Amino acid sequence: MPFSTLLDGALVMGPMTKGSNLPYRRLCVELGARITMSEMTVARRLKQRRKGEFALVRRFEGEPCFGVQLAGTNPEEMAWAAALVESRGADLVDLNCGCPIDYFTHKGLGAALGRQPSRLRRLIEAMKKAVGRVPVTAKIRLGWNDDDRNHLDQARAAADGGADALTVHGRTRNARYRTDADWDAIGEIAAAVSIPVIGNGDVLYGHQVEVLRARAGCAAVMTARAALIRPWIFREHAEGYREMSAEDRVAIYRRYVRLAREHWGDDEHGLARVRTFTRWHLDFWCRDVPRHADGTFPSMQVRELAFGARSPLEALLSRGDGNAHDYLADCLVEQREIVPAEAPSASQPVAELQTEAAG
Ligand SMILES: Cc1cc2nc3c(=O)[nH]c(=O)nc-3n(C[C@H](O)[C@H](O)[C@H](O)COP(=O)(O)O)c2cc1C
Repeated sequence: MPFSTLLDGALVMGPMTKGSNLPYRRLCVELGARITMSEMTVARRLKQRRKGEFALVRRFEGEPCFGVQLAGTNPEEMAWAAALVESRGADLVDLNCGCPIDYFTHKGLGAALGRQPSRLRRLIEAMKKAVGRVPVTAKIRLGWNDDDRNHLDQARAAADGGADALTVHGRTRNARYRTDADWDAIGEIAAAVSIPVIGNGDVLYGHQVEVLRARAGCAAVMTARAALIRPWIFREHAEGYREMSAEDRVAIYRRYVRLAREHWGDDEHGLARVRTFTRWHLDFWCRDVPRHADGTFPSMQVRELAFGARSPLEALLSRGDGNAHDYLADCLVEQREIVPAEAPSASQPVAELQTEAAG
């Protein structure tokens, strides 16, 4: 199927450091995701033959459309890396121009590239020349800060370089997650370039996909945090909203643990990794809350701490403290029953969710 047809109306699972681990992508595909992305992969580290980096670009058998996201600044290195990941099964190659983290931007990677549209264009050109058949895309933010928005320049540079599509995270680098995503700016880009645009930012429920897509006039929508909080959003996008009970949710979390054990193994080392990842995912899973009694939906940017849990299990799943997460991670990984009355009480305030993310 041509890439543009595949993209049309799709809900893409965003690239997420740690979050887009292979078993989690498998879970999302089982729940309806059709386009998945790797974690950000640094081209230089691939060149250095680092095992950990190679693990990030591995696709699983049956992954319908797996994109690998690369970070780098050197056109030759990026061309080499793009060809490499294509030869290892990537269905598309994406250039990261959004990572806000100082460690990377100081080296000119990620959002720092967005400040240099002509370099961005050269990188896309080089990657396009290097791949044989797969599409090349870029993922940008709106600019470095609100005084320095250059999203149209970045978008035109990507299109001029030959990008097959462009993902736009509708915030600036300095905004991190503090402001709402600006879907009007995403719309400006969609109107200005002829390549398909994938809008990204703050989608939490399936029904928002069509609303935002129509508003911005973009081809597709990408979701990242919602895939972590409510991985069934992909099914919801296709089939409509359905209330999830706490037991339904636990069944999905248990499925993740099974896939993770398959991937990392059942020995001591494998199980330690499964637990680390499960514990990490619980920081997001605890954020799912049901629709309000009046039929309205919670929003991504407002954390609802005081909602009326419908059962002791739902109350436990919504806890954000480390004790609850340790208890739940142990039960899930050791395949034990979850008994809310046995969970230790919170000994610390609700942990702030980690939002210092790489895009
Ligand atoms: C845990 C986490 C890791 C992320 N890692 C990446 C990454 O490696 N590459 C990237 O382009 N964006 C990364 N992002 C940003 C997301 O892809 C996305 O652009 C951003 O979260 C906004 O979308 P959302 O509102 O649907 O979460 C990450 C986000 C999160 C929450």
